Amino acid sequence: MTLDTSSLNKTRQDFSGRESVWLFGYGSLIFKADFPYLERRPASIRGWARRFWQGSHDHRGTPESPGRVLTLVESPGTVCAGMAYRVAPAVFDHLDVREKNGYLRFSTPMTFADGGHEEGLVYIATEDNAAFLGPASEEMIARQIAGSHGPSGPNRDYLLNLAEALRELGAEDDHVFALERFLLAL
Ligand code: SIN
Repeated sequence: MTLDTSSLNKTRQDFSGRESVWLFGYGSLIFKADFPYLERRPASIRGWARRFWQGSHDHRGTPESPGRVLTLVESPGTVCAGMAYRVAPAVFDHLDVREKNGYLRFSTPMTFADGGHEEGLVYIATEDNAAFLGPASEEMIARQIAGSHGPSGPNRDYLLNLAEALRELGAEDDHVFALERFLLAL
């Protein structure tokens, strides 16, 4: 089952009078920036951990055979490194469609890797969304990722591209790197 969250997101923040808005990306938004941006800066948010707990029926899987993609789960003290983009408000029209399978926009404080803070928006798929799959062992998650494909390509490319991008950022992530090891050993 899928639920299109794109129209819901339009009601969540008011962009009137804004020339630009910061976006925080922690998953495919790190390695696949298919939108125009004014600035791009490595950044992190605190209190959230990446988990491959969200089903993907539209990008890296199908309704019959969903893939697994990232969401964030609350994790006090955890620092989640990612990429911040400063974008024109109109870019959210595209992003809301791209992230329509269960993700909602939340506002979050961000810390830039080279110093300074800004408030940004982050797309999170909370556990009450229809596409949420939840936890499974890392081996099972890796097997599901290895066997899933969708209109945006193989699910394995999402994981491998993400792991590569996190290494480039110098980011620690036990969950992502464990999944990468399981996937490559299959
Ligand atoms: C993100 O990348 O920030 C959201 C999740 C995704 O699209 O992979």
